[in-house]
Amino acid sequence: MNTETPQKLDWHDLWRSIMEKCSGVNYDQPGHLKRWEKDQANDYLKHSSEEYPKALNDLIRIRPEDSILDIGCGPGVLALPFSLISKSVTVVDISENMLKVLHENAAAKGITNIKSVNKCWLDTCVGADISQGYDVVISSNSINLLGAQETTVNNQPRLEWDLVAALKKMNQLGKRIYLSFPLFIQNHLSSLKHLGKKSNPWPDYVILHNILYQLGIRPNINILKFTNTHFDDAYLRHCKSWVHDLRDHERDVFERQNGDQKVPGLRRNQLWGVFWWKT
Ligand SMILES: C[S@@+](CC[C@H](N)C(=O)[O-])C[C@H]1O[C@@H](n2cnc3c(N)ncnc32)[C@H](O)[C@@H]1O
Repeated sequence: MNTETPQKLDWHDLWRSIMEKCSGVNYDQPGHLKRWEKDQANDYLKHSSEEYPKALNDLIRIRPEDSILDIGCGPGVLALPFSLISKSVTVVDISENMLKVLHENAAAKGITNIKSVNKCWLDTCVGADISQGYDVVISSNSINLLGAQETTVNNQPRLEWDLVAALKKMNQLGKRIYLSFPLFIQNHLSSLKHLGKKSNPWPDYVILHNILYQLGIRPNINILKFTNTHFDDAYLRHCKSWVHDLRDHERDVFERQNGDQKVPGLRRNQLWGVFWWKT
């Protein structure tokens, strides 16, 4: 057995190198993340699980006096139900259409305690766009992307990746922080590979855990199990629309590959991980 101190791996460097190649990250031009279209945002909300917010809240236990910050909120999968049981919800999202769908649904339900900020998380200004502190801070199915920063280097647009900055900013603002993410999802990368296209995965959640550890944060870890009865082939359309550069015949192959009978079952019975801690 080697008794020498093992060289410390820089997990953030590893994470960054994976994000730079990740096939799940979509750009509409170099250095600029692709924003969600309105129909995609509507589709996303329509096919989200009603059980998920309940399962997550069994862990969070939101109180009526709580203020919540939901970062990378999407169309309001959590913000809409959580606004009904909390004092206020502030949401941040880079996609204007996600926020439009969220506000349309809030208005239809008579919800008036959601405030939104249409910015990249790392560009959100504390004290101006958002408050100095929240009881609960949440990133649901968005944490890797919150480390994105659109910038310019030598007059060229460039996307920098800094998850440590994103996590420190969350940590500074919240009393209780929750990061949730799907586990073991069947993703479309194998179909891309089948088409001879790039198929670089997202960073494993173990990498996130080790980055937190290197920041001195020891998160609690919980697993959420819930079903999504709204799952149907719209997921395929959603997935398809996010994949780069597929020609029509490639989209057909992609859809056939994702149409595997086992997939709907896997998607209906969902397993999510949650890292959470108190500051
Ligand atoms: C997969 S959706 C998750 C939506 C929702 N939180 C949920 O759990 O269903 C990821 C969201 O993060 C947003 N997003 C991506 N990068 C972001 C960034 N750097 N800052 C803020 N929002 C971002 C996207 O626009 C999208 O709405």
